[in-house]
Amino acid sequence: MTTIIGVLVSGRGSNLQSIIDHVESGYLKNVKLSVVISDVKDAYALERARMHGINAVFIDPQAYGNKMGFERKIIGTLRLYDVDLVLLAGYMRILGSEVIQVYRNRIMNIHPALLPSFKGLHGPKQALEYGVKVAGCTVHFVDEGMDSGPIILQSCVPVKDNDTEDTLAARILEQEHKIFPEAIKLFTEGKLKVDGRIVLRREK
Ligand code: GRF
Repeated sequence: MTTIIGVLVSGRGSNLQSIIDHVESGYLKNVKLSVVISDVKDAYALERARMHGINAVFIDPQAYGNKMGFERKIIGTLRLYDVDLVLLAGYMRILGSEVIQVYRNRIMNIHPALLPSFKGLHGPKQALEYGVKVAGCTVHFVDEGMDSGPIILQSCVPVKDNDTEDTLAARILEQEHKIFPEAIKLFTEGKLKVDGRIVLRREK
């Protein structure tokens, strides 16, 4: 069975590109990247989508009276494209509860920190300032909290003495580009089981 994917973005879209590459290389099978939705009009991620023949949709948050109207438009667009799995790939807004309820355990986010540490913005900067020696990234299902949903995969990188926010973020990003496709693959192969906040990997 084909899993139809919708991706929410706000920016440059390097994670989107990695997912596109993993589909085109055949690593991700039985997957269709159906639509990329951005809340930012000139997000480069939209351009990446168009270049690969994927529907690219800008939804203007200002065009709706309130957050609910905007989120309903997102739900409507995801439904229009028959999306089964929603990916947040650098989407810079907190999703509202309506979207989460419709797509419970079918929304994945990539976060540039080893959760539950360093939630929110600037994960690599927070890690550097705290002085941790190991940093990394997390793919998790999205729940109503901020960066708080069940963890699917994590990957670590060392923090070096001379790291800046940029060098650490770049080292983490390399891992993001690996574990996000890996998590999608596990999902599409039906190998993830969510039990409360624990995600179990099961062999089929
Ligand atoms: C990544 O660091 C991701 O972890 C965070 O936002 C950034 C998006 O980068 N959620 P990109 O747009 O995928 O290049």
